Amino acid sequence: MDRRKVILDVDTGSDDAVAIMTALLSPELEVLGICTVNGNRAVSFTTENTLRVKEFLNSSVPVYKGCAMPLVSSLQPGRRKHMPYTGPDNPEENVHSDYLDNMPPAKTAPERVNAVTFLIDTLMASDGDISLILVGPLTNLAVALRIEPAIAGKIKELIIMGGAYEFGNVEPFSEFNIWIDPEAAKIVLDCGAPVTLIPLDATHRACFSEQDCADLDAIGTKASIAAAEFARHRIKGYRQFQPMARPDWGPVHDVLAVAAAIDPTVLKDVRQLYVDVDFAGGRADGMTVIDVDGRDKKAKKNCMVAFNADREKLVAMVKAALARGEKA
Ligand code: RIB
Ligand code: CA
Repeated sequence: MDRRKVILDVDTGSDDAVAIMTALLSPELEVLGICTVNGNRAVSFTTENTLRVKEFLNSSVPVYKGCAMPLVSSLQPGRRKHMPYTGPDNPEENVHSDYLDNMPPAKTAPERVNAVTFLIDTLMASDGDISLILVGPLTNLAVALRIEPAIAGKIKELIIMGGAYEFGNVEPFSEFNIWIDPEAAKIVLDCGAPVTLIPLDATHRACFSEQDCADLDAIGTKASIAAAEFARHRIKGYRQFQPMARPDWGPVHDVLAVAAAIDPTVLKDVRQLYVDVDFAGGRADGMTVIDVDGRDKKAKKNCMVAFNADREKLVAMVKAALARGEKA
């Protein structure tokens, strides 16, 4: 089987952890490296957590520590408080913690090379056959693009969990990954590489249920049991701060991006549209401005945007991947 070459860019986090485990256990993907970034927590925590997931699966995938701060959004007084630690600002605060406490402390370290250098060197040396799956703020890739713009022509696809059309999570119309670093998102969405954007409109329609968690537990691998624990925690947290269509549902946002890299038909209602990013610092700061009606006739339609997803297909894909892991 031709495995798809991917690089993950994460801010691990509970849903990032499920995404990483699914990617590492999917035979369809060859994970060349995992880059970490400031987001759900400071990059020291997101790196430690990513190493914990890697070791939990006995994986040798290299981990590259990335940017500790957004490009500029934390410089303007009051625009982004609590940087680098984003706890109180993080709408998902009650579904993440500093450490993934269900996994042992990491014994390995990240690579000496930083994430930005890894991205540039790997992409420039490639045949243009590498896709990036980005499920945190887009700071690393934005910096890489500023240092070496030519990488845009070397990227097969950017699959990004981020943005929102109908509703946000950190602000009424802003989603956390974009909101943390709106300027980075603007640079990335306009870089010219093919973009598949997976906003909250899709991830909220592909939630995991309490029953899915029971099924994952029954699969009985270390990875499936850990994923059930993460998903249960998220179902409980979301009931409190952003109730889903059903009270026993919780979104595991990031894993949808991994599934889309394996089988794009897991995404539904996908449209080629122009997506802009507001970084004016006002009430819509960090909003993805999705031009659904094509109002801006001059704009280049820079993204394939997924407005829905196949929940059952996603859950089945995740169960199949995690079932390949080591028995608990
Ligand atoms: O808004 C959801 C996104 O923000 C997810 O990627 C979650 O992990 C956080 O990074
Ligand atoms: Ca994330």
